[in-house]
This record gives sequence, structure tokens and C-alpha cells, in this order.
Amino acid sequence: MTLLVALGSGDPDPWVKQFRVLLPDRPIVKLGDNYDPSTVEFSMTWYHPAGSLAQLPNLKAVFSLGAGVDHLFRDPHLPDVAIARVVDPDLTNRMSEYVMLHTLSILRQMRRYRTQQSIKNWSDDDFQPAATDVRVGIMGLGVLGSDAARKLKLMGFNVAGWSRSAKSLDGIQCFSGDAELSDFLARTDILIVLLPLTDETRGIINKNLLKGLARDGRVAAPSLINAGRGHLQIETELLECLDDGTLHEAVLDVFQTEPLPETSRLWAHPRVTITPHNASVSDPIAIANAIAAQIRRVEKGEALLNMVSRKKGY
Ligand code: NAP
Ligand code: GLV
Repeated sequence: MTLLVALGSGDPDPWVKQFRVLLPDRPIVKLGDNYDPSTVEFSMTWYHPAGSLAQLPNLKAVFSLGAGVDHLFRDPHLPDVAIARVVDPDLTNRMSEYVMLHTLSILRQMRRYRTQQSIKNWSDDDFQPAATDVRVGIMGLGVLGSDAARKLKLMGFNVAGWSRSAKSLDGIQCFSGDAELSDFLARTDILIVLLPLTDETRGIINKNLLKGLARDGRVAAPSLINAGRGHLQIETELLECLDDGTLHEAVLDVFQTEPLPETSRLWAHPRVTITPHNASVSDPIAIANAIAAQIRRVEKGEALLNMVSRKKGY
């Protein structure tokens, strides 16, 4: 029984090394190695080349090496086998760190103070609202969104979330479905996007949605943090909203094209923060452990955890 590490981007070797430590009695191979495709039962995958999994006649399951699975559905020849994604405290904590860092940075106007420092300007004439006065709204109240929501709540923020199905989270106002989206937006000063990319969510962060954010808060204008996926946002409209003041600030970890092309106006925009899709990276040491545990479950005849619904796309 062979395990295939099928990466279309990034270095497969740390993954191969870690799986060999954790599953020493199984052959672990990577794309390009010399192996018999009929022996491969599991594939650990990140942006695999389209068609590369269709050549494995005895494949039982595909494990996404990340939380998102949109990279799998890009392959029109994706085999009809079980798909599981990563749910792991290491990945969840990293995302919550990112969300807390940038939410606090917006609250405490760090962009302004960095600029002031660069010109040796000591000025404290701008009002600093407290976290309790600022309404954070999280689109996507799943594993990552709900952890970030709880931690922001602990910091004192007024937190709400929006999801597809109705939810109940202690101390967090929960909205769901298209019918409640406008109410959710209208009470949101800092919008955090932790949605998966699906047919329903593609392009959801557009001018119309951003115009629906709160205008009656204690912050200058609403801000956006997107650490979900790049194709959730329409970047031309996002730039329009930053230019005309609809949006105060944007923190973006993900982009329609990655790496972000040098020609993108986002790079030099004075109110945009860019990180290179590393809000929460999959650390081979932590994540290979979680996948190895899943493989042991299958071998004991137990059901896989964190299964992906092909119908929903996440
Ligand atoms: P998850 O547990 O599957 O949660 C997804 C959330 O989105 C759920 O609350 C779901 O609603 C909601 N949702 C999905 N479609 C919706 C729709 N059409 N309308 C309203 N809500 C919708 O996923 P997760 O583990 O939290 O991860 C979320 C995403 O984060 C991943 O898919 C990935 O794209 C991204 N991510 C990015 C990084 C990074 O480094 N930038 C790292 C990890 C993950 P229900 O609860 O009702 O199902
Ligand atoms: C990273 O983007 C992930 O989906 O885990």
C-alpha cells in the first residue's frame, strides 16, 4: 500500500520525510518517482497537476494538505473517492493569530503610526475607539471562523458571524444565508473573510457587498481582512472602494492570481497590507501527523474525519 505526495506547488520533500517517520511500514512516494500506480491507495495533495490522480486505479482517499479544497476541484479528472481536509489545532491557531494581529492593527491604527514614525511626526489627535466599540463580522463561521470569533470576543470586540446554515455560538451574534447577509454587513465595521471558494462564494467580496458595510460606527470607514481565497474578491472593485473611501483599509493574504502580479495596483496602494498566502501555513510536522492518524483510522475500518462534500464544494 503506497502513499503518494502529489504537490503541484511547494516542496514535497519535507512531507515525504515526515510521512516516512510516521508511517515507516508503508512506501511513500512523490510525483515523478518511479512507482507502480496500482499500488497507490492514498494521495496527499496540494494543487496536484490535473489528471495525475486519475491514473491511480486503486486510490481510496485524497487528503488535502490544507483546509481549503478548491485546488482539488480544479481537476476535471478528479477520481470519485473520499476527500478529507485538514482540521488541526496548529492550522487553526495560526489563522487566529493572523486575524487577531490584523484586527488589532486596524483598531489601533498601526498603518497611520508607521507612516507618522517614518516622518518623525508625534501626533495623537485621532480618537482611538475601544475594542468593545468596534463591530467585527466574520464571513464563514466554520473551524477557522468560529475559533477567530471566540478569540476576538475575548479581546472585547463586538463579534458576529455569517454562515450558510444557522449557528449558535456563545456571545456571538450569528447570521446565516442570503436573507440575513445585509443585516450582518450593516452592523460590521471590520469584515473578516474566512469562507471557502465555491461556485456560490466566488466573487462575493465585490463593490455591492462592501457598500453594505456599516457607516455609523466609531471607526473612520469599514475595513476588510480576506484570508479565505483570492477568487472570493473582485480586485478591481476592491480598489475602487479603497479609492473612493467606501473601504478604509484592506488586509489581503489571498489574491485572484498568486503570486500577486507585479502589475497589480494593490502592491503600492497606501491602505493595503499584503501577505503572501501564509496566514496559516500547513506545517508538515503538525499536519502529516493528522493525516497519518486518518490513514490509521481507515485501516482499522473507521470512518474518515473532516470529509468534504463534493456537492457543497467544501
Ligand atoms: P469550514 O470549517 O468548512 O468553514 C467554512 C464556513 O464557510 C462555514 O461556516 C460555512 O457555513 C461557510 N460557508 C460556506 N459556503 C457558504 C455560503 N455560500 N454562504 C455562507 N456561508 C458559507 O472551513 P475552514 O476550515 O474554516 O476554512 C475556511 C477557508 O479558509 C478554507 O476553505 C480556505 O479557503 C481558507 N484558508 C486559508 C488559509 C490561508 O493561509 N490563507 C489557511 C487555511 C484556510 P456552514 O457552517 O453553514 O457550513
Ligand atoms: C491554505 O490556504 C489552506 O487552505 O489550508
